[in-house]
Amino acid sequence: MDKNIKEQALVHGGQLSTIAQRYQIEEKDWLDLSTGIAPIAYPVGIIPTACWQRLPQNNEGLLHAARGYYQTHNLLPTPGSQSIIQMLPQLCRARGFASSKVWLPKVGYQEHRKAWQKANFQTIDYTDVTELSQIEHEDIVLLINPNNPTGQLYPSEDVTALYSAIKAKQGILIIDEAFMDTTPQQSMVQAFGRHNYPIGQQDRAELQDNSDSLIILRSVGKFFGLAGIRLGFVLANEDWLNAMALSLGPWAVSGPALFVGEQALANTRWQEEQRVVLCRLSSTLKSILKQAFTQTVQGTLLFRTVRIPHAPAIFEALCQQGIYVRLCDEKDALRFGIPDEQGLKRLENALNTSPVRQYL
Ligand SMILES: Cc1ncc(COP(=O)(O)O)c(C=O)c1O
Repeated sequence: MDKNIKEQALVHGGQLSTIAQRYQIEEKDWLDLSTGIAPIAYPVGIIPTACWQRLPQNNEGLLHAARGYYQTHNLLPTPGSQSIIQMLPQLCRARGFASSKVWLPKVGYQEHRKAWQKANFQTIDYTDVTELSQIEHEDIVLLINPNNPTGQLYPSEDVTALYSAIKAKQGILIIDEAFMDTTPQQSMVQAFGRHNYPIGQQDRAELQDNSDSLIILRSVGKFFGLAGIRLGFVLANEDWLNAMALSLGPWAVSGPALFVGEQALANTRWQEEQRVVLCRLSSTLKSILKQAFTQTVQGTLLFRTVRIPHAPAIFEALCQQGIYVRLCDEKDALRFGIPDEQGLKRLENALNTSPVRQYL
């Protein structure tokens, strides 16, 4: 096991103040594209004083809005997916999966690996889901769909087949859908039975799945541009949700997060506009990157990734110009968050300067 992964804080982008200091450029002058957080945030507006003053209470309004947005009843608000990622190994151990093997995508959000390895689970890397045909009794599989940073999106039919195979082996499929908001039709939430959908009783019975083999993580921070409020949801059967609620303890999600989350998840018009804006900005970003690089541009509507030789040198040359992108962990790719209109121009110009062009 890699001791470094166990003991060091991982770098995920963000932490602009550290970068600003390193390059001696004031924070306000940076174009920060180091995360996959939407450049336009849900307009939070005024938060009632009671949200700050009182302890957070069970919020039926938030649950109602979340059930409509995620299309399922089986959900629990969390202070971001990260909180569940960290508790999953202990919960799985407590529920009889102590000696399970855990299959992890080789490239992907590394906090998953860190959590399982820290809890001394045996982990196995896979590069493609076809390798998962080798899973054994009670194995645990993590799928990041779409993947961050590669953007690879497995369609729901493929994931359904994988889920059936895992369920047959009495294992667990954990799907991290932190970046699924722009492609909700591919979410595996349909396995729980679609809430609010005009379907007959029989269809509902066929779709409804109460097994404990599926856990889905959703994040509010990315698509809504609200990473700072620390809000997410876990979708799972009631047994899992009860265990997670107990483990989170009382007041895990703050009053302001509950209030803002309810507004944002209920505001379907804003969500539609956000999808249109992200589509426009991310396709312009894709064109700019395609012009600059000969390599394929991968990604989602919330980030674009290019695998390139000299990624560290290009990262450095962009930082020198006050543009902070994400140098991927393998040091063979750069991930670009979605810039606003002004940011797109600045990035395009920077990619055309000689300190960058010499490496393209
Ligand atoms: C794939 C993935 N999952 C989960 C998270 C954590 O999200 P949250 O802000 O909801 O804790 C991240 C954060 O970057 C991520 O990239």
